[in-house]
Amino acid sequence: MTKKQKMDLDAVNQQLDQFDQVVNSEKAMRKVTPQEKLRAGVDLGTSSIVLTVLDSKDKPIYGAFEYDHAVRDGLVVNYMESVRILEKLKQKAEDVLGVPLTTACGAIPPKTGEGSAKIVKNVIEAAGFICPAIVDEPTAAAKFLQMQDGTVVDIGGGTTGISVFQRGKLVEVLDEATGGFHMTLVLAGNQHIKADKAELIKRDPANEDEVFGVIRPVVEKMATITKTAVKTGVKQPVIVVGGAINFKDFIPTFSKTLKLPAYKPDYPQFVTPLGIAMFDDGKAE
Ligand SMILES: Nc1ncnc2c1ncn2[C@@H]1O[C@H](COP(=O)(O)OP(=O)(O)OP(=O)(O)O)[C@@H](O)[C@H]1O
Ligand SMILES: [Mg+2]
Repeated sequence: MTKKQKMDLDAVNQQLDQFDQVVNSEKAMRKVTPQEKLRAGVDLGTSSIVLTVLDSKDKPIYGAFEYDHAVRDGLVVNYMESVRILEKLKQKAEDVLGVPLTTACGAIPPKTGEGSAKIVKNVIEAAGFICPAIVDEPTAAAKFLQMQDGTVVDIGGGTTGISVFQRGKLVEVLDEATGGFHMTLVLAGNQHIKADKAELIKRDPANEDEVFGVIRPVVEKMATITKTAVKTGVKQPVIVVGGAINFKDFIPTFSKTLKLPAYKPDYPQFVTPLGIAMFDDGKAE
């Protein structure tokens, strides 16, 4: 990683740390005035729905999320439930901020097509927002990471998305159906327990070493996918994001199999949601 890339990652981590603080405090980062232009982003994920709010300089102002199963493999499978949760998140945000949120952008995994973009847009509009744009998830992540050249690997609940950027352009994108939920299934099989219970055990830091020993092959598989599936070659730096990588041994294991150094930003689950908000220009399409 060059000195410049290291400085960029430090700046990104500072923003993520701030954002995590606002999410946990359930308060606004600062007071906002009614004249201020705010940017909002909605990430309808497989395991949670995240709402992010930035100011006009892209500084995090507010954020909240709710766990949910309304989306599967990037596709909205429970429309009413998604709308209901998003309405609730919007209302809470407006109560805390003291101003209405009028616009919000959304995102879809790459190659899921026009249809899924339309559904995400409909969910956002049904919850009461104007939706200026639906963007590609990796493009949103790269925007937040200020990545011009490199590879973004986004490991969420359902999938591993790999995107290669060259001079700011997305040159290759892949989506493989292995994500955090597969780690949960492997753990459930190993312990002879239900997936719901395995999910809780997996996330409990007290079990981290034991859990990682069981799910290590899944991580190695994710690295192998990254190494072998990219036709244009894995471009450095490799930045890994998404909630599924929240293990201290994840990056060393992933890097070893990939045979390239990989980097994890702080709070990797918030990278894509924050990038989505950066596309909100406040205008109707
Ligand atoms: N502390 C943790 N330790 C381990 N895994 C975690 C932790 N927190 C979240 N996860 C896992 O991260 C995954 C969710 O990640 P993320 O929030 O990035 O997904 P998503 O955006 O909702 O899903 P997708 O991008 O696949 O639609 C889940 O599989 C969850 O179990
Ligand atoms: Mg995601």
